[in-house]
Amino acid sequence: MVWFIRHTTSSWRYRAMDLAETASWLQKHQDTPAHRVWVAVAQDRIVGYSCLSDFRAPEGYWPSAENSIYVLPEYAGQGIGKQLMQRILEQAARSDLQTIVAAIDSGNAASIRFHEQFGFVISGQLPRVGWKQDRWLDLVLMTCDVNQLRRKAPEEAKSR
Ligand SMILES: CC(C)(COP(=O)(O)OP(=O)(O)OC[C@H]1O[C@@H](n2cnc3c(N)ncnc32)[C@H](O)[C@@H]1OP(=O)(O)O)[C@@H](O)C(=O)NCCC(=O)NCCS
Repeated sequence: MVWFIRHTTSSWRYRAMDLAETASWLQKHQDTPAHRVWVAVAQDRIVGYSCLSDFRAPEGYWPSAENSIYVLPEYAGQGIGKQLMQRILEQAARSDLQTIVAAIDSGNAASIRFHEQFGFVISGQLPRVGWKQDRWLDLVLMTCDVNQLRRKAPEEAKSR
């Protein structure tokens, strides 16, 4: 979301996608069965979104997907992030995914705590792999074991 791109290191993009890039990004998600995009709408505007996307492009990475989740600050703390994350977890459990990866700026303690609440664990840290706001950024990789989610929701898993 543009606000996070402009003001934070939650997103390491320098500029928002233009319309053509967004259309192609959405189409790619539509064409990949395990992937999805969800949006949260309030007062007729998009106030948050989450998605499951390629973790890395080569085909051998099909058992994993990367999640992204953003809620505008003025709508934070109202349960929107939780609903968006639940969609991610339900979709992952229905699909053939094995692992969800969250790649988070190491300074973003709130997001790391948020992901931990949903069963993500820290699996690694990559130093100085990013640069934004005139400083080096470290990346924390968190993973969520989708089979554990399936064991927690056997009815959901049965309907795959
Ligand atoms: C992280 C984020 C998605 C949370 O969304 P949210 O709508 O504020 O979260 P919710 O209101 O649904 O809260 C869900 C749970 O997470 C907890 N939580 C939310 N923000 C938190 C924070 N800053 N610190 C600790 N816990 C937090 C809540 O207490 C809640 O727990 P509960 O159900 O036990 O009460 C949102 O703050 C955000 O967009 N952050 C910036 C972007 C970002 O870092 N994205 C992740 C990178 S991919």
